[in-house]
Amino acid sequence: MQSFKSKGLIALISALLCVSLAFVFMVNRASAHKVSHDADTLKAFNDAFMEQVILGDELFHGATMEGINMSNTGMACAMCHPFSSDVHPHEYPKFQEQMSEFATLRDMINWCIEKPNEGEIIDPDGEAMKALEAYIYWSNRGSVLDPGRH
Ligand code: HEC
Repeated sequence: MQSFKSKGLIALISALLCVSLAFVFMVNRASAHKVSHDADTLKAFNDAFMEQVILGDELFHGATMEGINMSNTGMACAMCHPFSSDVHPHEYPKFQEQMSEFATLRDMINWCIEKPNEGEIIDPDGEAMKALEAYIYWSNRGSVLDPGRH
């Protein structure tokens, strides 16, 4: 009887030890992640992001850039998509009816350049595309990811 009780106690202590170790491990990981960059580094990262957002904002509102022609109709993205808050980037990738294919956000941006804008599609990995993507995501920050949605 005595040994049964002490076995139970040992099992309980071991279980508690495991739980505490797991907890310490998780807290360590969480705080390590938080303190891995100092304030200046984080500010530099954010500045780099906002620089792209500002460029994307300008392009979205009709600015031109050397080597690209996103519209031959005189229409800027913002004329059909006010504030870019109605382009639902969080729903990509998805099967896109207009294209009859599975599409990324970049595919859809190029579809708008080619079809309604009658312009010339841009390099999917180029400067203009990255900036447009940054602006569109920034405008829709806080949206819940919902890929594939219609
Ligand atoms: C003449 C109007 C017009 C212009 C200008 C235009 N679009 Fe569109 N855009 C559309 C239409 C129509 C759709 C398809 C309808 C839909 O799926 O919401 C669309 C859809 C989109 C979508 C997907 C929206 C969704 O909810 O799935 C994105 C992203 C987008 N456009 C980005 C752009 C960008 C970037 C530009 C500028 C380069 C641009 N559009 C210019 C008319 C336009």
